[in-house]
Amino acid sequence: MPESLLALDQGTTSTRAILFDAALTPRATHQIELPQHFPQPGWVEHDPEQIFAHSVECLRGALARAGTAPGRVAGIGITNQRETTLVWDRATGRPVHNAIVWQDRRSAPICERLRAAGLEALLTQRTGLLADPYFSATKLMWLLESIPGLRARAESGELAFGTVDSFLLHRLTGGRVHATDATNAARTMLLDIRRGEWDEEILRALDIPRALLPEVRDCAADFGTTDPALLGAAIPIRGMAGDQQAATLGQACFRPGMVKSTYGTGCFMLLNTGAAPVHSGHRLLTTIAWQIGGARTYALEGAIFTAGAAVQWLRDGLRIIGSAAEAGELAAGADPECGVVMVPAFTGLGAPHWDASARGAILGLTRGAGAAEIARAALESVAWQTRDLLDAMRADWPDMGDTVLRVDGGMTASDWTMRFLADALQCPVDVPAVAETTALGAAYLAGVAAGLLPPPGDSAEQEATHWRRRVRFEPAMPAEEADRRHAGWRDAVGRVLTGQG
Ligand code: G3P
Repeated sequence: MPESLLALDQGTTSTRAILFDAALTPRATHQIELPQHFPQPGWVEHDPEQIFAHSVECLRGALARAGTAPGRVAGIGITNQRETTLVWDRATGRPVHNAIVWQDRRSAPICERLRAAGLEALLTQRTGLLADPYFSATKLMWLLESIPGLRARAESGELAFGTVDSFLLHRLTGGRVHATDATNAARTMLLDIRRGEWDEEILRALDIPRALLPEVRDCAADFGTTDPALLGAAIPIRGMAGDQQAATLGQACFRPGMVKSTYGTGCFMLLNTGAAPVHSGHRLLTTIAWQIGGARTYALEGAIFTAGAAVQWLRDGLRIIGSAAEAGELAAGADPECGVVMVPAFTGLGAPHWDASARGAILGLTRGAGAAEIARAALESVAWQTRDLLDAMRADWPDMGDTVLRVDGGMTASDWTMRFLADALQCPVDVPAVAETTALGAAYLAGVAAGLLPPPGDSAEQEATHWRRRVRFEPAMPAEEADRRHAGWRDAVGRVLTGQG
């Protein structure tokens, strides 16, 4: 009986496939970096053909490295960079344009238009999101408004829209399935998250043809089978979720109140709030954490655009470190009382500020400040941004209780950063044994749909079946000191905000 699970994790900067055994232990990985295209300042694109070719190569590579025949795979789980927007020809599968990446700000003027038309309240109430270029809807509007003839082709049903999951599914199934899952759909700004359906009123207000949209399915479901010509067999595709939601499952945040934070280029923190969506009074996002058996679990999400990217800037921009791993060592040698604060608003600020026009700043420089102090300020900025999110979550959802933050992503390799994070948050920070939580979540969903694994439950035993701690960092800084330093950070943020949204 087939019992392996194959996760495809198509992220912003790389694509990887990981083969898991039935106990959710990773057995083999294949990964390929994805080139980024910056056609204009503020624009970020990916080549969809490369996304597809890399995905197939990674799936083949993981199978080959594990020595697993395709027929032994019980299911593929797809997880992906969210919001990134594609439109393609249904008949040929050919994209009409490069993928417009979630970080791309080109649709900021469209967002302004929507706000000026008084639509933001409706958008937030129905979709849980804000009128920001981050989400797919205004990227799709930009395509419809900018490419001659596209609207007519969209209206005639010739074209398909989707996020990366949907595009990959269409291509992997040989053009037979045009579907997405509820978590990815929830990031388009077109889904009524309470009903799990496309919102007709929003579609009309944004002038988006219904014929473009994929069908919305559960995260653990029948998504068809792969074209046998691609992987050597028709493998069922059974799991699908946006990468941050998959990581929430991979971190086994099954019970309301559990929270995880993933530190990649940016940082995405999701709090499980249970069966009812919680409206944020503090500019967090309300989103679907997963939908299984038609039942939805919701999350409050804080999205920060710059986390690991601040370390990249130390390396590639300032050139004060040779590799990301050196940042923690350098920071450890800094004067802790130096008072240098960095606000890494390189591409504006996300939650809870949502200020696309804000730009970065380094404040509090003295003659004593050097590379170590700047490295420390960069790493601290990640922790303070997380604290802003946690404070907003606590204010939005007072039931949160005592928090243990589960973390994953590249920055968790730095003990110095994780220790400082525990100090800043004044709560324990747990790093799991399996670092690949996103792929784990996707494999888990495929395993649930294949009947190999139980759906998320609220028992501690079930959580223990796929989550183990590698290390816990406890706060060592006195609460008053953490509060004092946080106030310094907030003061610095206040100086870069433009108030322009
Ligand atoms: O919302 C964007 C997020 O899904 C991107 O995640 O890990 O691909 O940078 P990542």
